Amino acid sequence: MSEDQEPRTLAPLSGAAGRADVIVEGVTYRYPGAGRPALRDISLRIGQGEYVALLGHNGSGKSTLSRVIGGLLAPERGVVTVAGLDAASAESRARVRELVGMIFPDPDNQIIATVVEDDVAWGLAARGLPLAEVRTRAALALAAVGLSEAAGRAPWELSGGQRQRLAIAGALALEPRMLIADEPTAMLDPMARRDIVGLLLRLNREHGLTVLHVTHSLEEAALAGRVVALEEGRVALDEPPDIAFANLDRMRALRLVIPDTARLVESLRACGLPVPPDALTPEELVAALERLRSRRA
Ligand SMILES: Nc1ncnc2c1ncn2[C@@H]1O[C@H](COP(=O)(O)OP(=O)(O)O)[C@@H](O)[C@H]1O
Ligand SMILES: [Mg+2]
Repeated sequence: MSEDQEPRTLAPLSGAAGRADVIVEGVTYRYPGAGRPALRDISLRIGQGEYVALLGHNGSGKSTLSRVIGGLLAPERGVVTVAGLDAASAESRARVRELVGMIFPDPDNQIIATVVEDDVAWGLAARGLPLAEVRTRAALALAAVGLSEAAGRAPWELSGGQRQRLAIAGALALEPRMLIADEPTAMLDPMARRDIVGLLLRLNREHGLTVLHVTHSLEEAALAGRVVALEEGRVALDEPPDIAFANLDRMRALRLVIPDTARLVESLRACGLPVPPDALTPEELVAALERLRSRRA
């Protein structure tokens, strides 16, 4: 390789990708035959490179909104554009589905092949890409999720967290501008959860991928740059996490699960101890208490 030649990375990782702003404007969606709409007059904008956590009680519309943004469902009213393309129109829908990679709770629903590398290659081969390009992109995608070593293994030999990483690699191989991860940690143990959230954060921070992370966990949402919460198909909250989580009563009103640590922080603050309200994990609380102690010492 000559010196001025950049090493090859996945397209969105090179920064060469176009802007992937998501614009949701006045969107209402009703499932066929359903009386109540699942989404009611939702408007929301997501900028390129943002990491947005999407919270909400069961049935509040998180998965429906994800599918509408990903071009899988066409709204009854309103418009969704991704990178300027109409997500519902017959001409641009297929392109939007490439721009928006979707990850679901159960990776096994997305894994098709019997060899890890082939599973990532499958989606590319289905698009008619030349074999050399398929191999290169599959290798890059596996490297991006830390699964290069497992390329020749069978998916069922991998752990749940590794299989979710494989599903993410499958999405990355298609060179998306955005990942929508719909409760990607729901079926994983705590260690694998941290692993997957860490990977999503890294893909966002290091590679500029826009992330919409649907989760029930306030601890996970606290890591996002912005928290959007849905209630009965409407946007009920759209704020940075430290502001959103400073008022747990509002979280309770949205029927979200309040972490034990957050309840403890709330009690400590009620006792007059100035711990920050956004300390949601035990580690953060311990660090905050240690800072307080050293200040008082
Ligand atoms: N395939 C479907 N057919 C009919 N109604 C659905 C379907 N999927 C979801 N719904 C309804 O749409 C609403 C929103 O659901 P969903 O988007 O799955 O919520 P969430 O992901 O927040 O749990 C709920 O009332 C749910 O019952
Ligand atoms: Mg859902």
